[in-house]
Amino acid sequence: MQIGNYYIFTYGCQMNVHESEKLAGILEERGYVHCEKPEDADVLVYNTCCIREGAEQRAVGNIGNAKPIKKKNPNLIVAVCGCMTQQKNVANNLKKKFPFINIVFGANNVEFFGEYLDLFLKQRKYQNKILEDKNYQSNTRSVNIVRDDKYSAYVNITYGCNNFCTYCIVPYVRGREISRPAEEIYKEVKDLIEIGHYKIITLLGQNVNSYGNDLKDNKVTFPKLLEHIANFDGDFEIRFMSSHPKDLSDELIDVIARNKKISKAIHLPVQSGSNNVLKLMNRNYTREKYLDIIKKMKEKIPNLSLSTDIIVGFVGETEQDFQDTVNLIKEVKFSNAYIFMYSKRKGTVAEKMEGHLPLEVKRERIHKLLEIQKEITNNHFVNLIGTIQENVFVEDEKQTFYLGKTQCGKVVKIKKDKQLDSGSFYSVKITDYSGGNLYGEAL
Ligand code: SAH
Ligand code: SF4
Ligand code: F3S
Repeated sequence: MQIGNYYIFTYGCQMNVHESEKLAGILEERGYVHCEKPEDADVLVYNTCCIREGAEQRAVGNIGNAKPIKKKNPNLIVAVCGCMTQQKNVANNLKKKFPFINIVFGANNVEFFGEYLDLFLKQRKYQNKILEDKNYQSNTRSVNIVRDDKYSAYVNITYGCNNFCTYCIVPYVRGREISRPAEEIYKEVKDLIEIGHYKIITLLGQNVNSYGNDLKDNKVTFPKLLEHIANFDGDFEIRFMSSHPKDLSDELIDVIARNKKISKAIHLPVQSGSNNVLKLMNRNYTREKYLDIIKKMKEKIPNLSLSTDIIVGFVGETEQDFQDTVNLIKEVKFSNAYIFMYSKRKGTVAEKMEGHLPLEVKRERIHKLLEIQKEITNNHFVNLIGTIQENVFVEDEKQTFYLGKTQCGKVVKIKKDKQLDSGSFYSVKITDYSGGNLYGEAL
């Protein structure tokens, strides 16, 4: 029975996207139905992120937009959750600023949203369910999941993070790293493959390479977990994110190289090309070690497509440090780089460091780096002309072409000279690159 509509705003990373799928599952179990516009909702959920100031501002701005919706529909229930609410005092401040908020909870008790909603409906009073213990994780509790995509599915392998990169808020809001038992992961992946239409499985963790370190008597390392899954029957591709360079082993490179079902699009955040900055960031690897990993991957993995994350304008970053980053991206030639301006986060080690840079310097550096990367990305795709791309996933049939995606997520418009099926993988010869799209012919 339909008892109302729901709409979820999701900010932040894949982890949050997946948690919103759990929130949707919980709501649908209770009879709520997804609606296309927030104005039509009876339950509005804001699943927030606090990785940078901008992410917080976007969420706060949108929560403000709920006020007129609530005016029109006094029964509207407004819930706020996610990483932002886990920070000290944020929930109380939000409630003060937006008195119409009905329920707040955190990133570590998403799976209990159903109970909180029931409590609110029963008592009709504000529910503040932020848990003091950041290490508490309700993720061991399995809930109904309503997945966003027909073909692609997320599977958690670890929660939380132990790395404490000095700029980063995640370890504070998500608590310590917890790995899911391998058997549980295998079962979820097998069940997804058996459903038939899920073809791209993405394993999620803040640092997948440290999978299993916290499990007692655990013999399943990340490369072992990955290879075990790659040996499952069925037509699917397996991806993972994120990988921390400090824990990336030679074994993992070999496993990626020898398993056809493991995606060759690897995301390996470098953050900076300068050893001084990497040290200040507490990243625990050097520029040389990073470049050594890249060299090995390029040698061993055919059709490799590398992407990365970079922070510009970190505390104390000199012009020379920045140049080191410029030189690194020119040397590695990432197919894509997600470049961010350093954003000061409360409670982190970097917040208290000396030498924060003015906004103008950060802006200037991000513009420079974006320009350089744009050209590298462009050249990367031009260089694909004439190559054969394996595992191009056909998502849709359009009037004049098939819409395919390469392993790194790049759109390929495939010629309609053969009958191809949506939801299947094909080898595609790339014939052109223009207007930001690849063009190709299925083999
Ligand atoms: N756990 C993942 C990434 C988490 S956050 C990993 O380590 O790879 C995603 C990206 O946001 C990071 O890789 C980093 O580049 C960026 N980021 C994190 N904290 C930031 C901050 N305070 N300011 C700017 N960018 C930040
Ligand atoms: Fe943040 Fe570093 Fe953990 Fe990634 S590895 S979530 S950047 S602390
Ligand atoms: Fe944001 Fe939390 Fe992800 S801070 S980037 S949603 S882990």
